[in-house]
Amino acid sequence: MQGKFPLTTRQTTILQSATTLAKNTLENEGSGHDWWHIYRVTRLSKKIAVAEGANLFICELAALLHDLIDEKLFDDPEAEKQRLQDWMLENEVTTDEAAHVMEIITTLSFKGGAGQPMTTLEGEVVQDADRLDAIGAIGIARTFVYSGKKGRPMYDPNVPVREEMTPEQYRDGKDTAINHFYEKLLKLQHLLNTDAGRKIAQQRHTYMEQFLRQFKQEWDGLDGEL
Ligand code: ADP
Ligand code: NI
Repeated sequence: MQGKFPLTTRQTTILQSATTLAKNTLENEGSGHDWWHIYRVTRLSKKIAVAEGANLFICELAALLHDLIDEKLFDDPEAEKQRLQDWMLENEVTTDEAAHVMEIITTLSFKGGAGQPMTTLEGEVVQDADRLDAIGAIGIARTFVYSGKKGRPMYDPNVPVREEMTPEQYRDGKDTAINHFYEKLLKLQHLLNTDAGRKIAQQRHTYMEQFLRQFKQEWDGLDGEL
């Protein structure tokens, strides 16, 4: 995939090193931000970047590094930010590129709906890719893994869906896997930035709706003609 922005040898080397860094750091991550999440977001970022004419190097580098300063994963995100900044400069990422990548990954996270809008096309691309990995078949699977890890039920008809939540409630409140679809996942298709992202989202969204319908039918024993 060459697109509008073919990669230089320097950039290719940086992307290889960033892949190794992300793999090594997130290898044992168990909350859905493991290396394979990064792999998928990077693949989608490249695909969307080409379709949207965005800078491929910035998109790919930001995708590879996007979870390395996350407040959920690291005790001291500020220290991680500094480490990443140093890493980029040591690895011959230019000051401008580093600033752009840092800007993207610090504004990217959804954070219970309070996320700021992205300021560049490359940011929009990577944010779309990250959000797309939370919907569709992968999104369903990640949701149940996350809920299981938190010790939450897959569903409880007595736990109401929350319309408004503080970031604390979003992270730690009483929740079920099924409620998470209504609280976040079904809203994501309307929060995408790019046409290419929206296109990919359509089928994933429909798939989740089908899943929820089937789940409810099975829950009440209403499925299957006898
Ligand atoms: P991000 O880091 O992309 O902002 P999160 O940490 O909120 O996303 O989510 C990571 C994964 O865990 C996503 O697939 C998301 O749907 C899932 N997840 C997050 N919060 C919940 C929750 N309360 N219940 C179930 N799954 C969740
Ligand atoms: Ni992510």
